[in-house]
Amino acid sequence: MTNVNTELANGVLRVELNRPEKKNALTGAMYDRLAQILTEANKNDAVRVMLWHGAGDSFCAGNDIGDFQKNPPQAGGSPQARLTEAFIGFEKPVVVAVHGAAVGGGTTMLAHCDIIYAGESSKFRLPFVDLALVPEFASSYSIPALAGYIRAAELFLLAEAFTAARAAELGLVTHVVGDEEVFTMAALTAKKLAAKPAGALMATKRLTKRAALDGYREAARAESKEFVERVRSDEAREAFVAFLEKRTPNFNRTPPADAAK
Ligand code: COA
Repeated sequence: MTNVNTELANGVLRVELNRPEKKNALTGAMYDRLAQILTEANKNDAVRVMLWHGAGDSFCAGNDIGDFQKNPPQAGGSPQARLTEAFIGFEKPVVVAVHGAAVGGGTTMLAHCDIIYAGESSKFRLPFVDLALVPEFASSYSIPALAGYIRAAELFLLAEAFTAARAAELGLVTHVVGDEEVFTMAALTAKKLAAKPAGALMATKRLTKRAALDGYREAARAESKEFVERVRSDEAREAFVAFLEKRTPNFNRTPPADAAK
C-alpha cells in the first residue's frame, strides 16, 4: 500500500497523493513509489504531461514526522533523495493542483513542477527549522532562486505559514484560483499541454532548466548530508516527539553542544 494513485488518459498521467487521514504526509514507501512513477513516465511515450494533486482536504503535509523517527534518512541515499533526483531528471511538463495545506515537501516539491494552481484558501509553510531540520528537495537552491534570498530567508528561518496570494507574489505558484475550480483548471491546462508537440515541450523544459541543474544537484547533495545529521539530533527528537504528543517543543532542554554540532 503506497498511498499513491495513478491514471493515464489521453496523454495525461494523473498522480494522486492518497493518504487523506494524514493530510497526505509522505512516507518512505510513497517517496519510492513517486520516484518510480516519474522514472517510468519519463521513458513512456504515452505520458505527455503529469497532473499532480492530493486527496482529501489537503495537498500534502510534507514528510511523515513519525517516519523521521522510525526510518531516519541514511547517509548515501534515502527515499526522499531518490525522489528529488527523479524530479530533477524529469523532462515532461508537470501541472499541479494545490488545495488546503502544502507544508514542507508539499511546498518545496512545487519548485520541481512547471505550472502550479493554488486554491485561494490554500496555506503554505516551510517548517524545517521548527522541526530542528534543514530544507530538502533542493529547496535551499530553488526557493532563493524563485523568491530572492531575503524573502527565502524569512520563509525558512521564521517558518511561518503564508497564503496562496503570498506564494504567488513570491513566485512559488503560478495562479491563485477559487478553491472549487483548482483541480478543473489544472486538469484543463494538462489537457492543453497534452495536445502540444511532446518533443518540443520536453526540449523547452530541458533548455529552460539547463542553467539551474547544477544548482539543484549540488543543493540536493549538501542538504542530504546535513539532513542526516540534523534528523538524529536531540533537538530534532524533541521536535518530533512534541509534534506526535501535540505539544509545543521545548528546545531549551536540548544540550547546547548538540545545537552547535
Ligand atoms: N507527519 C505525520 N502526521 C501528520 C503530518 C506529518 N507531516 N501532518 C499531519 N499529520 C497527521 C496529524 O498528526 C493528525 O493525525 P491524528 O489524526 O492521528 O492525530 C492528522 O494528520 C491530521 O492533522 P491535523 O494536524 O489534526 O490537521 P490540521 O488541519 O489541524 O493541520 C497541518 C494540518 C498539515 C497544517 C498540520 O497537520 C501540520 O502542520 N502538520 C505537520 C507538517 C509538517 O511539519 N511537515 C513536516 C515537513 S518536513
